[in-house]
Amino acid sequence: MMALRLKERFEKKFDEEIRFFRGMMQGPKQVGAIVPTSSVTARKMASVIDTASGLPVLELGPGTGVITKQILARGVSPEKIVSVEYSRDFYERLVEDYVGVNFIHGDAFDLKTSLGALADQTFDCVISAVPMLSFPMEARIQLLEDLLSRIPEGRPVVQITYGPVSPIIAKPDRYHIQHFDFIVRNIPPAQLWIYRQA
Ligand SMILES: C[S@@+](CC[C@H](N)C(=O)[O-])C[C@H]1O[C@@H](n2cnc3c(N)ncnc32)[C@H](O)[C@@H]1O
Repeated sequence: MMALRLKERFEKKFDEEIRFFRGMMQGPKQVGAIVPTSSVTARKMASVIDTASGLPVLELGPGTGVITKQILARGVSPEKIVSVEYSRDFYERLVEDYVGVNFIHGDAFDLKTSLGALADQTFDCVISAVPMLSFPMEARIQLLEDLLSRIPEGRPVVQITYGPVSPIIAKPDRYHIQHFDFIVRNIPPAQLWIYRQA
């Protein structure tokens, strides 16, 4: 029984990695990483959620769903997760794997269009794995400010990245940047940043 469960887990993980690799080969800049985010990193990112707020969580770039899984593990119900994924391949698989989560096949950099009827929704926080470094700085700043306008003052936008510095330059009059964590148990090691309204 135990061996069967281990085999199933191994097969699922292997399948996720193959899918990720395929996505990476099709659009390396769009995927922006070499293997899926580790569960340690995903758990840390999901730890920022205030489960008592009653507000939905906005996730960006769910990919294989590693972070979605940890958001669910925090006790957020599937219908309280809105998750925007650009790749059709990832999106189609996510819909199958995480039944009830509001996956949107769309562009995080054009949330007004992607969110559609949810465009005016206030979210508890934003958990983002979009490959920021693949986009021009002006687009990153615009996205961050758009995200901050969709969550209550003081609530975080958490972003994963692989560079040594914040992927979004400082604008202290507009938003605050906090280094949240450096996670070695991730390939490659990951940096987590938190942004809040100034
Ligand atoms: C570094 S991967 C992270 C995936 C996820 N954490 C995992 O481990 O499977 C980046 C993800 O962002 C998605 N992505 C890239 N550009 C995007 C955009 N403009 N809007 C939404 N998602 C985007 C990619 O398709 C990919 O799934």
